[in-house]
Amino acid sequence: MTADPREHPMWLPPHALQFLRGRPVVIRGADPLLETIRSEAADAGAVDRGERVDAGTPASTLLIVPAADAEEVWPRPLPVAGLRAEGFVIAQDGDRTIIAYADGRGALYGWFQMIRDHAGGERRSTPARFEPQQALRVLDHWDNISAHPVMGQVERGYAGGSIFYADGSVRRDLGRVARYARLLASIGVNAVTINNVNVGRREAQLLTDDLGTVELLAGIFRPWGIRVHLSVNFASPLDLGDLDTSDPLDERVAQWWSAATAQAFARIPDLGGYLVKADSEGQPGPHAYGRDHADGANMLARALEPHGGVVRWRAFVYNHRQDWRDRSTDRARAAYDTFMPLDGRFDDNVLLQVKYGPIDFQTREPLSPVIAAMKHTRIALELQVTQEYTGQQRHAVYLAPQWSEILGGRPFGDGGPPVSELVRGGIAAVSNVGDDAYWTGHPLAQSNLYAYGRLAWDATLDARAVLSEWMALTFGDDEAVNDGIHSILDDSWATYESYTAPLGVGFMVTPGSHYGPSVDGYEYSPWGTYHFADRNGIGVDRTVATGTGYTGQYPQEWAAMFESLESVPDELLLFFHHVPYTHRLHNGATVIQHIYDTHFRGAEQAAELPARWDALRDHIDEDVWMRGAERFAEQARSAGEWRDQINTYFWRASGIPDEHGRTLY
Ligand code: GCU
Repeated sequence: MTADPREHPMWLPPHALQFLRGRPVVIRGADPLLETIRSEAADAGAVDRGERVDAGTPASTLLIVPAADAEEVWPRPLPVAGLRAEGFVIAQDGDRTIIAYADGRGALYGWFQMIRDHAGGERRSTPARFEPQQALRVLDHWDNISAHPVMGQVERGYAGGSIFYADGSVRRDLGRVARYARLLASIGVNAVTINNVNVGRREAQLLTDDLGTVELLAGIFRPWGIRVHLSVNFASPLDLGDLDTSDPLDERVAQWWSAATAQAFARIPDLGGYLVKADSEGQPGPHAYGRDHADGANMLARALEPHGGVVRWRAFVYNHRQDWRDRSTDRARAAYDTFMPLDGRFDDNVLLQVKYGPIDFQTREPLSPVIAAMKHTRIALELQVTQEYTGQQRHAVYLAPQWSEILGGRPFGDGGPPVSELVRGGIAAVSNVGDDAYWTGHPLAQSNLYAYGRLAWDATLDARAVLSEWMALTFGDDEAVNDGIHSILDDSWATYESYTAPLGVGFMVTPGSHYGPSVDGYEYSPWGTYHFADRNGIGVDRTVATGTGYTGQYPQEWAAMFESLESVPDELLLFFHHVPYTHRLHNGATVIQHIYDTHFRGAEQAAELPARWDALRDHIDEDVWMRGAERFAEQARSAGEWRDQINTYFWRASGIPDEHGRTLY
């Protein structure tokens, strides 16, 4: 299957399906996605028995049938009543297995669940019913067609160039995109955005002159149940059209979008819709015309509505030209302040896409208050699989524990609904793949892509169990690999957090690249990401009582918890409060001693990783292992640099020595 000799398979390498060789399969139904399963089955060497089930059907047959047929072909009742779109039921009876599906996607997802079950040794003697929690599970690619002079081709990409584009246009060989589509289907991802949210002129043309590229890519994703979305530039009528405005309330502008959208759907009838970054970090938007975000989003929504498309309008809007001297502006407040007054004004096919935290994909942030606040708006949650702020795929950081915590958060208190239920517009994430031989730079970063799909499908899955699944599907059932990688990844998010910015204060990264430490790198910048460290203390006072008032954006339970030093969780202390270095955490340590302790310990843990990886040398493909070894060496080095810069900075600022007398510079 791997055509490019430089390309290694991710999960589901060809031998993962070997168990199907010679297995009789009955595939019944007319949905085009069943053709995909038929060819999967053929590739695996299974024997197609057509659609009939009768006395002559071998005992070991795998049955893939519409839910409505379950009763006819299965001896016992199956829980298929009211099965929702994309859902399926799996059951086993002796050697016979049934996948009873709701629709084509349900059949496809059932197929991959059956493979996962096999790899994990799971038997379904009790029938199991599967339905996705979220209807939209999308990966956003920040890919440019032509390379950006500073950002490269994939913005915040750490795995080489785009798998879609090369040399200023769509790639000629799209085999890898097909392999990617299959892997995404195997984890339940059902949509992909094929260009960067910062839409350059060349990329804006995907909607107009270059629809052929979209058509081509959509054709590759379609057999895997994946719809293509486009990032669009709000100023397109002005930049690409013949208009002198992109005012959303100008009738000509609305017509321009309607016509462009109709043209796009004529060629790509299952186009998913548009993703828009407007009035954010220099992108154009409705503000230039005195209009608000609802005016802008609804205008696009009305162009898409007749075709069944959605607008994902991003809430990542803030003043990126802030004066660092201005203490009254708080970037964390921006999304709520901007969008909350618009709650209830968005059309039904507008999804407001909100980053999980109020700042920007940090290792540790509180949940964005917008998610609980906007009760009359369909919110889509945005995660970052690409590791912009979490080690850039040079550090091994398994992000599923972070996502579990986000999705399981209950902003209305312990009795209230979790985030995974508050979010009604789907889950999106920035992809981490590129044309790198290992797809994701660090081979272990593949686990993040895998886990994203699984948690978007079912937020209650256990992060460690998902990691085991990924390993079983990638490396087979080698216990040494399973234990070794668990020992590297299980606590990797916590480890990374411990040697980088402390206690939720965020940033402290090198400006621009966002890799490696620079404590004051953003302190006097216009970006609104400050830590306010001086000789007495550190942190941002976001309380209602004495600070920016940000805590007041949460429902009562969380507002009270964050407002008080008594109840604010340690790991978010400096996000919400400015405290002296001698302030004691709930865990008993002072802030300064906590900084020293976590940084010494975190860097020590990182220094142990190369040896743990060494131990797996004979168990993992040599090339994959070599790439990993290179990355672990860099992680250990970088963690030491973080430790020394952070510890030294705070030793110099505070004058308080480390209780244990370790080396500070
Ligand atoms: C971050 C990232 C940018 C990106 C932006 C976004 O700020 O550094 O490169 O464009 O997020 O999400 O739009």
